[in-house]
Amino acid sequence: MNITEALFTGINSIYLPEIDSTNLFAMNLLSKTNPPEGTCVYTAYQSAGRGQIGRFWYSSDGKNLLISYIFYPKPLKAIDQFILNIISGLAVRDVVGMYCDNVKIKWPNDIYVDDKKIAGILVQNILRGTDIKATVIGIGLNVNEQHFPSEIPNPVSISQITSKSHDLAEIRQLLSSKLEFYFMKMKYGHHEWLKETYINTMYRINETANFKTDGETIIFGKIRGVNEQGKLLIQVESEDVLAFGFREIGYVI
Ligand code: BTN
Repeated sequence: MNITEALFTGINSIYLPEIDSTNLFAMNLLSKTNPPEGTCVYTAYQSAGRGQIGRFWYSSDGKNLLISYIFYPKPLKAIDQFILNIISGLAVRDVVGMYCDNVKIKWPNDIYVDDKKIAGILVQNILRGTDIKATVIGIGLNVNEQHFPSEIPNPVSISQITSKSHDLAEIRQLLSSKLEFYFMKMKYGHHEWLKETYINTMYRINETANFKTDGETIIFGKIRGVNEQGKLLIQVESEDVLAFGFREIGYVI
């Protein structure tokens, strides 16, 4: 596959055959040392893989990509932290797009192929005052998983789609390279371009769909994008555009 090699992302790498969570390991590392920019921590198995809002991330031993990257996104303000969701979502979307069609980013940063989730991203930031001192971008990408527990909603792996097994090291390198590309776009201040690119790849953008606002109330509308804080913008039947935070809205899939 013809792709530029990363210069610093994933170059310093820490492989752990088994760990509770690569995000937790990376956060602990940052509390004690200053690992080089782009350091990655990856594993074959997580005993306590973390998902968003305290969820568990499922992955059986050795089948998938479980990786956390450390970056220092200076001079990024905490108020602009959604850009980190944007760059990580775009990087994973591009990599999955090399293997599968119809890859979208489901707000805020789940990666979907058609109506199934193929990857999840957990961004954890370390703040100093109003600045982001460091970030840990944790990515769980389902590559060779064949069977998921029934309680996981809509999962899929690259291998289930392509009917082939794939080399995790190759996918890791592609991911490092893509992440570096979007990280540098952010560093050079191309926030508007990144936001537009993200909006253009959003799952169900401009489609009429149902959403749950408090687990029960259903609203009907069209996703129009995200605002500066990364809130989801939905145009409802009255034509008003409403902004929703992460815990305030759910898709009906
Ligand atoms: C989600 O969709 O809820 C986010 C899932 C993020 C999972 C990855 S796997 C590697 C890294 N380590 C963790 O404990 N979580 C992230």
